[in-house]
Amino acid sequence: MNLKGINIPVLSYLSEKKFITGRELSNQFGISRVAVWKQIQKLKKLGYIISADNKKGYRIVSSADILLPHEIYRNLHTKCIGKQIFYYNKVTSTNSMAKETIKDKKDYFQEGTVIIADIQTAGRGRLGRTWYSPLGGIWLTIVLFPNLEPVYISKITLMTAVVLVQSIRKLYDIPVQIKWPNDVVVKGKKLCGILTEMAAESDCINYVAVGIGVNANLKGEDFPKDVRGKSISLLEILEKSISRVKLVQLLLEDFEKYYHLLQQQQFTPILQEWKLNAETLGKNITILSAGQKITGKAIDITSEGALVIRKEGRETVNILSGTVQ
Ligand code: BTN
Repeated sequence: MNLKGINIPVLSYLSEKKFITGRELSNQFGISRVAVWKQIQKLKKLGYIISADNKKGYRIVSSADILLPHEIYRNLHTKCIGKQIFYYNKVTSTNSMAKETIKDKKDYFQEGTVIIADIQTAGRGRLGRTWYSPLGGIWLTIVLFPNLEPVYISKITLMTAVVLVQSIRKLYDIPVQIKWPNDVVVKGKKLCGILTEMAAESDCINYVAVGIGVNANLKGEDFPKDVRGKSISLLEILEKSISRVKLVQLLLEDFEKYYHLLQQQQFTPILQEWKLNAETLGKNITILSAGQKITGKAIDITSEGALVIRKEGRETVNILSGTVQ
């Protein structure tokens, strides 16, 4: 997405609801009428549909699907999550950006700040893996300062998986499920990933960075060879592009709803929702955990997020982290 030369204040001032004259824009931003007209042409090139009337001026008919903060703010109904959004065209990793910023300037972010990027050059996945993040996806981090004990970190991750399933299903009605611990999958192929990172003292959390990656408008060939066949995108499933802005808005709204429950220490409904949507439960699986292979039937998940496996000899083990093979 090339935003070079785009006057963001002009763009944010334009409205879907009413016409704004060229003269008003020119006075408001101290630029000539010709410069206003050039801005409109650039926006049209980006994919905005703008109605232009000699007398009434300009009105946005439909926006381009750009993850610019004001596009997300336009129809976002939250009190805290996403009230402050930082957008980057290209960044190493939104999670790294969040962590580094908090390290340097502790009060820079507020509760629920979102860092979002069109491209990540060093996107990170779980267990030190690379998360391939080209243009077309949704790569974002939600920064939280919860007044919760550090054991809540795994609950925040489980909750985020539930949020993703809910918002994706509401918009697209596709059979999306959760694969333990925190992959969101469709027919076994990975659609979204979650990377939750935090800094904590023994009894309190300093901050949490919830990294969310959604393979939104990625084509099959956009995926690197090693994950092709294991990953999938919404574009591939629906055979058409989706509005990333709309999905981000719904995701942030659902996140706020569930995060509110968690803050009230009401984890049971979230866990129930997780279980209802789990593709892992009830299956015979093999897990790689701490270099060990464990095989058995996945029978439950604990409130700490551990997967309960019943091994062949009927002995049960709780596994807190690992990868289902
Ligand atoms: C996984 O391995 O499944 C987790 C992938 C998480 C990817 C997201 S994209 C936004 C955020 N920034 C990162 O570098 N990673 C997370």
